[in-house]
Amino acid sequence: MAAQNNAPLPDGLEIAGYRIVKKIASGGFSIVYLASDEDGNAVAIKEYLPSSLALRQQGELVPAISNENLPIYRIGLKCFFEEGRALARISHPNVVSVINFFRANETVYMVMAYESGRSLQEHILRRRDKGEKPLVSERFIRRMFNQVMNGLREVHTNKLLHLDLKPANIYLRLDGTPILLDFGAARQTLKTDIPKLYPMYTPGFAAPELYLKNGNLGPWTDIYSIGASIFACMVGAPPQPSDQRKTSDKMEGHYRKLEGLYSTELIEVVRWCLQLDPLERPQSVFALQKALAIQAQPQRELTFMEKITLKFKTLIGSAKRKKVESDHTTIQESTLN
Ligand SMILES: Nc1ncnc2c1ncn2[C@@H]1O[C@H](COP(=O)(O)OP(=O)(O)O)[C@@H](O)[C@H]1O
Ligand SMILES: [Mg+2]
Repeated sequence: MAAQNNAPLPDGLEIAGYRIVKKIASGGFSIVYLASDEDGNAVAIKEYLPSSLALRQQGELVPAISNENLPIYRIGLKCFFEEGRALARISHPNVVSVINFFRANETVYMVMAYESGRSLQEHILRRRDKGEKPLVSERFIRRMFNQVMNGLREVHTNKLLHLDLKPANIYLRLDGTPILLDFGAARQTLKTDIPKLYPMYTPGFAAPELYLKNGNLGPWTDIYSIGASIFACMVGAPPQPSDQRKTSDKMEGHYRKLEGLYSTELIEVVRWCLQLDPLERPQSVFALQKALAIQAQPQRELTFMEKITLKFKTLIGSAKRKKVESDHTTIQESTLN
């Protein structure tokens, strides 16, 4: 079945003690609504409704699911529920807070604290449209991602992986504090058995092991996506998708273009996170946080004596290089003969 546009629940609908105010977002997997609870507090309600499996017509509440899709739909439902249950155990200022769950309309609803702000993706796009240079400041990147990683550490401590980290799933509160949204762990469970729900990952943000059937997933998998998200803040676009990089890696050229706009240290952190081999990446979020905390060395004005010494060293160096080059030429020539 091709992906369809499902009709959202109508504004004003009363459901399990909540009142739907309006639809905020809809993706291929769910619809998110702004709603209010019995005390009038704003909440965000996420409704499980994978558009490739279930069709809800305008004016209906219960989606139609074909017999063929029903088993997969049910597995997805269970995973969505499990994901939320695991999330509900986590209480951290940088992780979205899950308040409640309920079943209705033959699907599942996850109730979260409503956060006002916008996604990091929107933030990047707005700045790109305004032509800001650098796109997102290094200071903001360092501070914000450090907080994102505080949340991610908590997630990993709870034996969960996010697996769908990208700027669209990092939400910025009005004061700039980031929170992690949208945990894709459930979808990962689905991916292994069910190809229909597979193409959930956004190319460019997904680590290469996520493309494999039995890839070795771990904190390093989320760390790849953190690197990709930092890269997206610097460039305004995701990195080259990891499956393409395996055959023709163009990332070095992209890193070079960032020189001068961002510190060498920060570019180095991104390069480390985006290693294709999981073992060559930071192995824990803490290790990455430590690396991100190393600030760029400020450029100091050289003293007169230092300038003279540097000039002298450069001269000696260039003389030596010339000698090596000429030796090299001789060797090549002799090899040719
Ligand atoms: N707790 C929340 N508070 C406010 N907005 C939210 C909340 N959760 C989700 N949203 C909004 O809904 C969008 C989609 O949510 P997300 O959980 O990423 O679902 P999807 O699976 O559709 O990508 C977010 O980008 C954000 O704009
Ligand atoms: Mg999302």
